[in-house]
Amino acid sequence: MGPQPTSRDATEASQATEATEPTEAIELLFEPIAIGGAMARNRIALAPMTSCFAEVDGKVSDRLVSFLEARAKGGAGLVMTEGAAVDARGRGWTNHLSVYDDTFRPGLARLAGAIRAHGSLAWMQLMHNGRRTVSAVTGVQPVSSTAQRSPGASWEVPHRLSTAEVHDVIGLFVAAIRRAAETGFDGVELHGGHAYLINQFLSPSKNDRDDEFGGDPVGRARFATEIIRRAHAELGDDYPVGVRLSIVEFEPGGITLPDTLSMVTILEAAGAAYIDGSAGVSTLTKELKWTTGEGEATLSEYAVQVRNQLTNIPYMTVGRVLRPATAERLLRDGVADIIGIGRAMVSDPEWPNKARSGQPFMMCIGCNGCQQRSVHRQSGCPVNVNVGHEYEYTPIRAASPSRVLVIGSGVGGLACALAAARRGHATALADGEFPFGGLLGLRATVPFNEEIAESLEMFRTQLAAAGVTRLAAGDPAGDLGPQIAAWDPDVIVDATPGEPLRTAVPWRAHDLERVMSGQVGAAELGQTVGVIGSSYAAVEAALRLASDGHDVTVLGDARAFARDTHPQLAYRAVERLEKAGGRLLPSVSYLDLVARARGVPAKAEPFRPRIENAADLDFDSVVQGIGWSNAPRDLGVDNLFTNRANYYVGDTYNPWEQRFVAERGAEFGLRV
Ligand SMILES: Cc1cc2nc3c(=O)[nH]c(=O)nc-3n(C[C@H](O)[C@H](O)[C@H](O)COP(=O)(O)O)c2cc1C
Ligand code: SF4
Repeated sequence: MGPQPTSRDATEASQATEATEPTEAIELLFEPIAIGGAMARNRIALAPMTSCFAEVDGKVSDRLVSFLEARAKGGAGLVMTEGAAVDARGRGWTNHLSVYDDTFRPGLARLAGAIRAHGSLAWMQLMHNGRRTVSAVTGVQPVSSTAQRSPGASWEVPHRLSTAEVHDVIGLFVAAIRRAAETGFDGVELHGGHAYLINQFLSPSKNDRDDEFGGDPVGRARFATEIIRRAHAELGDDYPVGVRLSIVEFEPGGITLPDTLSMVTILEAAGAAYIDGSAGVSTLTKELKWTTGEGEATLSEYAVQVRNQLTNIPYMTVGRVLRPATAERLLRDGVADIIGIGRAMVSDPEWPNKARSGQPFMMCIGCNGCQQRSVHRQSGCPVNVNVGHEYEYTPIRAASPSRVLVIGSGVGGLACALAAARRGHATALADGEFPFGGLLGLRATVPFNEEIAESLEMFRTQLAAAGVTRLAAGDPAGDLGPQIAAWDPDVIVDATPGEPLRTAVPWRAHDLERVMSGQVGAAELGQTVGVIGSSYAAVEAALRLASDGHDVTVLGDARAFARDTHPQLAYRAVERLEKAGGRLLPSVSYLDLVARARGVPAKAEPFRPRIENAADLDFDSVVQGIGWSNAPRDLGVDNLFTNRANYYVGDTYNPWEQRFVAERGAEFGLRV
């Protein structure tokens, strides 16, 4: 239960925000709350999110400051950094924000100052990757509570910390807390979830110790409780040290809800300022319902029990809270005292201010484009192209405004048109032969992707506000020519996808984009439909067709499907397709199909067929879902490009690539 704020604190906190009056329905969300010795102006906390925006050596960068500052300006009560490394051995990736020595102080002080300047509490999450790292990043063997490797992962065999070494690492956490406090952070959170070092002590499946840091829950929690106890001894009991836990790990032998209930009692008694309840051993945990179409606040059934276990400290819940009404309901129903918002505040940093004023906001589409650090890439977002570019993407008024036509309203076209219009160019957007949203618009027609429609609605609002003229959809050779001639642009930006990739098949074939945009009717398609391709696009197209009542089989040349995007999206799409009755055939040699299409007799085929019953396969028609070429498609209007500047931005179906296409579009729009 959250302690009540004093009236003095509440007045100070409410003075710290310039947001407008609360709407009738959303009230509890904007009540101040005391967290240890700190007072937040409202119940909204930016959840910790690794962005890889720090410098390669872990120092604070302009990009990181601009990202977090924008969320503070957007009205969050508390803005938390991503997990900062307390030990050089605990770094997990390049650009891992760090706090393990004094050289990091100036940047951290700048970061805390930028957050606090907008009235938010500046909060630092502290982490040590333990065995979830590799020597290629740290230069040394990983360390852990155990000498066991993470099962099923490619991490290295860790060094098991001796008892004395555990005390040393506790000292590193405490030194980091001191640095955070001294550089202006109002509080810290220990990252005790997601299979990182603190969790490697807390979790029964990862702690096989027989010293004081292992055994029963008290022993397993001792690593965390000692950090809190020693930090309070040095900095005073008021300095808030919260703990993030994976309240359910969903893995054999891992943390269960009853474990968590005893653990939080121990942590509260040790002086934890609050508990932040996440879940899973990583954000890839299958049981986590954190992608599109899975509902909101999906941890509530566990969260409410953990919150009830606490006697005097607040509980923060996270996990797909997308709408202000959901956040308000969680507070009203006693599920939590603080609402941690991650991706919804990536897609719209102004989410808190808009929640307060009732304005529409940009909906997160759950694509996990922001979460690509497995390949050490910096974060980004297809529906909010400013992520990580908050300082750079400020539109500068064009010295001599031009007439700009963007063809294709995919994420690249949208970002380009918005940037060009905001710079003062007369800008028009033609959908070309696609629905609004281009390939994202096609994704919106697939079951479970409802959030995409909400995001596209917000794009419509943004285009109108920026003064972009919308030209109707039409086929390229037909309507596009007159549209270009009528708009008479100086600059044309082609933001349509490349030509569809196709293979020869022995059946009637249609391009995926034509099928999904409704240009091929159900009767023309027939009842039994094959989809050629292993990509996410092929699986989603099949899901759409299966839901429309077709008998669908996906023929993929790879060994697994949808590997071109975030694993959680991939297995969800496959799972949904199978539930809808779709069939997936992996490792199909397309040469088998080509040979049949060319009439080559089976025994004369030069390659051994990899489908057992290749010759028996039969479909009324197939959908070409291999993908799109990187080269621009023929729009059939080449003559109208003469004497006009033209650029190619393209479009993509792949949720992981969409953010890059969006960034490319924005950059053209900002330079034109
Ligand atoms: C890009 C990204 C990076 C993340 N990095 C961290 C992290 O550094 N520390 C952490 O505890 N959780 C991390 N998480 C998990 C989030 O804090 C949050 O619990 C999760 O995204 C669910 O909340 P949401 O649905 O509001 O995004 C990350 C999530 C995302 C999307
Ligand atoms: S990248 Fe995707 S998941 Fe991440 S915030 Fe943006 S829309 Fe949401």
